[in-house]
Amino acid sequence: MKYSYVTHLICPKCKSEYSTKEKHQLCSCGSPLLVEYDWAALKKVMQPEDLAARESTLWRYHEMLPVEQPENVVSQGEGMAPLLAMPSLGRDMNIKQLYMKDEGLIPTGTFKARGAAVGVSKAKELGVEEFAMPTNGNAGAAWALYGAKAGITSTIVMPQDAPKITRNETALSGANLYLVNGLISDAGKIVKEAVEKFNLYDASTLKEPYRIEGKKTMGLEIAEQLGWKMPDVILYPTGGGVGLIGIHKALKELRKLGWVSGRLPRLVAVQSSGCAPIVKAWKEKKSESQFWEESDTIAFGINVPKAIGDFLVLDAIYETNGCAVAVDDEWMLREQQNVARMEGSFICPEGAAVFAAIRKLRQENWIRENETVVALNTGAGIKYPDTVEIDVEVLEKDSSLKRI
Ligand SMILES: Cc1ncc(COP(=O)(O)O)c(C=O)c1O
Ligand SMILES: [Zn+2]
Repeated sequence: MKYSYVTHLICPKCKSEYSTKEKHQLCSCGSPLLVEYDWAALKKVMQPEDLAARESTLWRYHEMLPVEQPENVVSQGEGMAPLLAMPSLGRDMNIKQLYMKDEGLIPTGTFKARGAAVGVSKAKELGVEEFAMPTNGNAGAAWALYGAKAGITSTIVMPQDAPKITRNETALSGANLYLVNGLISDAGKIVKEAVEKFNLYDASTLKEPYRIEGKKTMGLEIAEQLGWKMPDVILYPTGGGVGLIGIHKALKELRKLGWVSGRLPRLVAVQSSGCAPIVKAWKEKKSESQFWEESDTIAFGINVPKAIGDFLVLDAIYETNGCAVAVDDEWMLREQQNVARMEGSFICPEGAAVFAAIRKLRQENWIRENETVVALNTGAGIKYPDTVEIDVEVLEKDSSLKRI
């Protein structure tokens, strides 16, 4: 049996094919490239039961990942984040089967470690010596740290306002870190110019094809954790949308293998009302989004005014009869508190946006009481110490506590 059943890269727009043995970025037509595998061969040699004895990381799915030689794997134990039942919050929202895939528990505290693990491992396999990327913080931190482990130099550009912890993680890893007085789109322009000038490997969202393969493991895990049954609805906080595209790809691949069957879950892209280009495009039934001017939200990871893979996100929504929802920042903060009080989890603002969307969609009866609903909490609340404002009484040294 081979370690990976990867075959080639394919362009979803013009169908051109490329080799996975050489470095490739976008297709010559400008579209992101997707990774293809030999499903017919894999189906003959692998069964879901084979996974039972494997390590509890995303590398348990190595046949469906693009790294061909196991010695190129750069891992910090990422993957297999718990799928937690949320009974109290479910009761509060009148949903019987509400689950949270808690990505706060993997290395670097966000799901970005998945894309970094697979992206950096494949970069190592391809002989990349230096990569560059714009980021809203979490992805840059993950790529810089995995890059350090792989011995690959990284150049990271992030907005000045990105969460301070991600800046520290990136700097500490030894990356060349720059802050920009602007948004991720401005960081993107600076990286694009540097990539051309210094001939760097461009690790920007979807400009290299392998990050998505790491993120698709969220979809593989959800199916495995539910006993190879698909839920009815999966909701995802959408910035660049790679996670949503990845989950969609994963479930379609599992269907090709015959490990799951039936209708795909309805996929929901959740955005902030301060930055909702995908929601606007979906409402207007468009196949691409437009640049969202003056975007602003506390959920920093989803502050992406124009995503390069927007057409793939919209495809995933249309194909699964899903939808796109925008929620206000105040609703996010309320749900962040609800999740902490009812379920004991301190989730990130992006994850909180998902719960605000679930409440809204349940109220509109778009989500029904008996449906199985999976919320992606993409990161740990502790990565955003400044998002929550609290007022606590300070005691004098000799004071005693009073109970009312
Ligand atoms: C915590 C968190 N959630 C969600 C996202 C959005 O991810 P994607 O680009 O896959 O839409 C990000 C991106 O930075 C993030 O950091
Ligand atoms: Zn193309």
